[in-house]
Amino acid sequence: MKRIRKAVFPVAGLGTRFLPATKSVPKEMMTVVDRPVLQHVVDEAREAGIEHFIFVTGRNKAVIEDHFDMAYELESTLQARGKMKEYEALMADLPPAGTTSFTRQQAPLGLGHAVWCAREIIGDEPFAVLLPDMITMQGGRGSRCLAQCIETYNQHGGNVIAVEEVPMEETHQYGVVSIGKDDGHNFEITGMVEKPAKGTAPSTSIISGRYILDSSIFEALKDAEKGAGGEIQLTDAMIKLAKNQAFHGVRFDGKTYDTGSKLGFLAANIAFAMARPELADGLRVELKKIVGTL
Ligand code: G1P
Repeated sequence: MKRIRKAVFPVAGLGTRFLPATKSVPKEMMTVVDRPVLQHVVDEAREAGIEHFIFVTGRNKAVIEDHFDMAYELESTLQARGKMKEYEALMADLPPAGTTSFTRQQAPLGLGHAVWCAREIIGDEPFAVLLPDMITMQGGRGSRCLAQCIETYNQHGGNVIAVEEVPMEETHQYGVVSIGKDDGHNFEITGMVEKPAKGTAPSTSIISGRYILDSSIFEALKDAEKGAGGEIQLTDAMIKLAKNQAFHGVRFDGKTYDTGSKLGFLAANIAFAMARPELADGLRVELKKIVGTL
C-alpha cells in the first residue's frame, strides 16, 4: 500500500462571507488566536506525516506563499534582539525547503476543479485533501482528523472520507454519505450526494473536509460536468470513482470548527484560546464578564 505523503489545500476561494476583512487578506490567513487558519490545517497535516504541501491558490493569495517561506529580515532582527523564543517558534513552523508547491486555479469553477489543478504535482499516488475552512482539535484518541483518516486508509486502503453528524435540517448544505457495513468508528460508504434537497439526505453523516483519494480521481475529474451550485464538485467525481473503488467513512474523534462561518470562526477563537495555558485564565475572566451581561 502506498504511503500518504502529499496533501492538497484548496485555497482559491474569495471569502465573500468575511468582507471587508477578506478584501486584501485571504480568508485562509485570518487568525485563530495567533495562527492563520491555514497554519492550523497545515499543522494537522504535518502531525499526520504529510511531507509535501500543495496549495491551489488564486489571484490575491501571494501572501500565503510568503507565510510558508523564510522572512529573512524578521528572523535576523529577532535573532539580533535576542528574541530566541519567537525566532524558534517561526523556525519550527517553517516547512522544510522544497516541500511546498503552489499552483493556481485560474477560475472559480468549484472544489473538484481546484483538486484537479493539482494533478501534475500529485502524479500517480494516493493523496490527502484538507479543506482549510475546517479546523480540528484532537479528542481522547490524541490525534487529529487527518491522522485518523490515514489510520483507516492503512487498514482498508482505497479512499477515505472523514464524516461528522449534523441535524437533518442542515444536511442540504453539505455532501452526505450513505452508510453500509459499520464497526462504529469506520464504515463502508455505499453512496454519496452533494447538497441534497431538503429532507432527502440519505443520512445525517456529512463529508467534513478531510479526504484520502486515489489518484484515479483525476480521471473522474477530467471533463467533469457542473453539479450542485453550478460548480465542478469533488463529490460527483467520488461518486464516479466509487463504482469501482472502495470508500470508507471515518467518524473521527475530536472537535471541528467551520471557520468559513462567522459563528464558527468566533467559536474557534475561543476554543483554541482556552486550550492555551497562558491565555485560558485571563480569557475565562473576560468571558464571564461578557456572559454576565447577557
Ligand atoms: C464542500 C464539499 C461538501 C462538504 C463541505 C464541508 O462544500 O463539497 O461535500 O460537505 O465542503 O464543509 P462547500 O462548503 O464548498 O459548499
